[in-house]
Amino acid sequence: MCVRKVWSALLGLLIVSGKASAESASYCSVNTFNTNTTWMQFTKEPVPYEYGFEDKFKSIHCCVKGYRSIEWFKDGVAYPWSAGVSNMILYPEAANQTLYARRATRGDSGNYTCRLSNETHVEAHTVKLTILEKPTDAPRTMFISKDQWVEEGAELRLYCEALIGRSLLADARSDLRWRKVFPNNTEGDLLPTQTEIKTTREDVSDIIGSYLTVDRVSGQDYGPYVCVVHSNDVVSKNYVTVHYIHDTTWCGSGNVPWRALALGAAAGALALLSAAALHRRCTPRLLLAARHARARAQPTARRARVLEKEFDVLVCWTAVDGELVRGALLPTLSYKYKYRVHAVPLSTQPDTWYSELIGEASRCRSLVAVLSPAQHSPQQLLTALRQLRELPLPPVVVLLQDLPKLKREAKEGGESLVSMLRGTRLVAWRHVHERAFWTALRLALPLPPAPDTKPNPAETEENKYSRSGSLTALV
Ligand SMILES: *[C@@H]1O[C@H](CO)[C@@H](O)[C@H](O)[C@H]1NC(C)=O
Ligand SMILES: *[C@@H]1O[C@H](CO)[C@@H](O)[C@H](O)[C@H]1NC(C)=O
Ligand SMILES: *[C@@H]1O[C@H](CO)[C@@H](O)[C@H](O)[C@H]1NC(C)=O
Ligand SMILES: *[C@@H]1O[C@H](CO)[C@@H](O)[C@H](O)[C@H]1NC(C)=O
Ligand SMILES: *[C@@H]1O[C@H](CO)[C@@H](O)[C@H](O)[C@H]1NC(C)=O
Repeated sequence: MCVRKVWSALLGLLIVSGKASAESASYCSVNTFNTNTTWMQFTKEPVPYEYGFEDKFKSIHCCVKGYRSIEWFKDGVAYPWSAGVSNMILYPEAANQTLYARRATRGDSGNYTCRLSNETHVEAHTVKLTILEKPTDAPRTMFISKDQWVEEGAELRLYCEALIGRSLLADARSDLRWRKVFPNNTEGDLLPTQTEIKTTREDVSDIIGSYLTVDRVSGQDYGPYVCVVHSNDVVSKNYVTVHYIHDTTWCGSGNVPWRALALGAAAGALALLSAAALHRRCTPRLLLAARHARARAQPTARRARVLEKEFDVLVCWTAVDGELVRGALLPTLSYKYKYRVHAVPLSTQPDTWYSELIGEASRCRSLVAVLSPAQHSPQQLLTALRQLRELPLPPVVVLLQDLPKLKREAKEGGESLVSMLRGTRLVAWRHVHERAFWTALRLALPLPPAPDTKPNPAETEENKYSRSGSLTALV
């Protein structure tokens, strides 16, 4: 009888230590960062808050590599600890990256700091461990990624982890997941290119987490995300925004060809205008007339194509340019030149322009973006152009100021801004009455529907505009 008790106790101990080893060993070896650099670094997100339960197994970690030594402190006291300080013990099989207690006590709560060093550097990370008496209802966030600045084409990885309460009630819901926040402030499912990987802990089953990863970030991946945690009936949300970052290193290959670029860009789509002084006024208009003539030659085919989309032009702008766009650009395009115009105001920061426009762009045949270059830093300008160029419609960018004013900042913007500007269709705004601008813009856009295909252009509206002269008044 007594012997059997001893044996089963021994066996239990063996099982427990076996379990402890397996749990402790696996945590730092799964879901590690995808890097093969070897210097001293964390190998996964260092979690700052940890929770365990009284009398239950608990382990905490500092997952690192490339270090020469690792030391642990609890509230400033160096390991090894007396029973009065902590029951946590080092797990040497995990290269001292893990501490664990088979039966945690309230007294084990505290700040555990791992101090890592290599030949030249020292790094430290602190884990605040709380040992609880019983499960709680309100979720407790243990880790949430900070806002990220990610280059296009690079990898994205967000992480969220929390302690939740699992109720025995069948209808109570406990889970954690990532959602995308759309520009209209609603939350929706992730895109197919955005992968979610759920995690669990072997030591505490009430701790759950989720990675959101994107292999190659593109325009649609920028913007805010939310980690939504349901714990019984309590919901908690943590927001993370993914911003653009640009490679701002300037390749010192001679001087920035900014002047040439600026001159070229200002001319941009107007290049034709400067071709020959004599044809300065006539050539683009002749081109336009030729296009109209070609269109008239095949009316039915064209008409069907044109009417596939609800609108001819999507015009977008930010608040600073609102007056000019509403007062001059929109009325002239729709009433004078008979375009079916879809007007979309944008948020001031260009980070989410792609998602703000993608849905609307599908209803339109072309896209005009109005930009005041002086309102944006070169980085923002680059972001704006990148977001616009991700859209299925090649953007026509109306510049309200001359680019030469940007010359000073050219060095900060880097080569990518230069090449991005070169590859974009730019039309320089001068004045509402300048015909060269309108000709250039119309040349860059598809033709509007022929007059007879148009259901009923608000003629009265047009008259109202010409009579009141509001068009000129607002410029
Ligand atoms: C490091 O990993 C990248 C991919 O993550 C791979 O392309 C590269 O060849 C690796 N470098 C070395 C030295 O192993
Ligand atoms: C020590 O670690 C730091 C930080 O990770 C790293 O920058 C440095 O190169 C490392 N030094 C050596 C000698 O490996
Ligand atoms: C782990 O810690 C023990 C005790 O502090 C120490 O003797 C040992 O060298 C450490 N091992 C590593 C790989 O740091
Ligand atoms: C642990 O650190 C936190 C924040 O640094 C501090 O507020 C708290 O008092 C510390 N706890 C102990 C037991 O020292
Ligand atoms: C918000 O935007 C998303 C995507 O742009 C769309 O799917 C959703 O229906 C919109 N919700 C509302 C309430 O407008």
